[in-house]
Amino acid sequence: MKMFTPEVLADLNKQETPFYFYDLGLLEQTLNVCSAAANIYGFKVHYALKANFNEPILKAIAAKGFGADCVSGNEVKLALKTGFKNDEVVFAGVGKSDKEIQEALALDIFCFNVESVEELSIINELAAKQQKKARIAIRINPNVDAKTHQHITTGLEENKFGINTWELNDCVKILQEAKHLELVGIHFHVGSQVRDLDVFKSLCLRVNEFNNWFLDRGFDLKVLNVGGGLGVDYYHPDENAITDFDSYFKVFDQFLDRRKGQEVHFELGRALVAASGALLTKVLYIKKGIKKNFMILDAGMTELMRPVLYQAYHQIENLSKPRSSDQADGLKYDVVGPICESTDTFCKEVLLPVSERGDLIAIRTAGAYGEVMASRYNLREPITAVYHQ
Ligand code: LLP
Repeated sequence: MKMFTPEVLADLNKQETPFYFYDLGLLEQTLNVCSAAANIYGFKVHYALKANFNEPILKAIAAKGFGADCVSGNEVKLALKTGFKNDEVVFAGVGKSDKEIQEALALDIFCFNVESVEELSIINELAAKQQKKARIAIRINPNVDAKTHQHITTGLEENKFGINTWELNDCVKILQEAKHLELVGIHFHVGSQVRDLDVFKSLCLRVNEFNNWFLDRGFDLKVLNVGGGLGVDYYHPDENAITDFDSYFKVFDQFLDRRKGQEVHFELGRALVAASGALLTKVLYIKKGIKKNFMILDAGMTELMRPVLYQAYHQIENLSKPRSSDQADGLKYDVVGPICESTDTFCKEVLLPVSERGDLIAIRTAGAYGEVMASRYNLREPITAVYHQ
């Protein structure tokens, strides 16, 4: 699948760089493939807004019938504004403020994913004030290693997320007495950019244990929410533009023991939006060092933070110079940004066609956790977005 056709390129060359480019056609195809794969098993997918909360993207996802996974009151409000249904919104996060909880209660969202014992009591109190029953799921820390970068691992006991297993008895005590809480399910999320599907198999086996544990204590859970985390192929953005959703959902069908009528919910972010976005930037200068060539771009860590924060790889392409099949006429560049930080490097030793000032460069697979994590450091211009159907 080629993202930059000649007509797209002609259009992009006219825009002022840097900017994010979104291929809404590819997004739609990805959503269709994901929905079809999930529907086979009757699974419900919530989109994790944190990956990208641009309105045209949210509207496209809501229109396909996905639910929304939010981590702030603002995300909850934006989800509703862009077409997600309130009874398909879940609200997670280790530090929900009282105001955020009150607003979400008033909006009658489907469920709060509760991340600490103390939060349970607070939601109960706040729901009492509105004379409501808050639907909640307990986010359990399953202690499953996601085998991904340590900064995006969430499901280990050492991480701040979720309620640890030794606190579950305390939760049950509160739930038995709380008049304004209804336990609808249990929730898990082990980490992000998970490429090894065995991780999800291990998660399923843990979920089964907790599902039975709650049943033994009289809670017949309606929902098993297994979170998100499905990774994408950053190395082959055209060949593998759409993640293998089939194999992913199959693991859950095979290893999750859901009882009759029990729903399985997912919270996918990256796998739905990463491939459809790219950061477009121009070469400002080529600087020759003794042993190195630096390609200095007009975008930096302020526009795309992932390489600096997680040593993440994003494929870099020079769209102004067609890639030669003979790699010999290329050069290796350290591709860097303009920010006053020596960490402001996208990638070192990238083999590219010989490049020059003014060339248009694409940094691929940046639709998830790209634009949303941009900052104004160095008083940079706010980043803009261009959409293509
Ligand atoms: N559910 C929960 C509770 C989460 O914490 C996350 C992501 C998701 C769902 C969605 O995960 P996904 O399907 O996108 O992997 N900024 C990092 C990723 C942080 C992920 C945080 N939580 C990055 O750029 O790699």
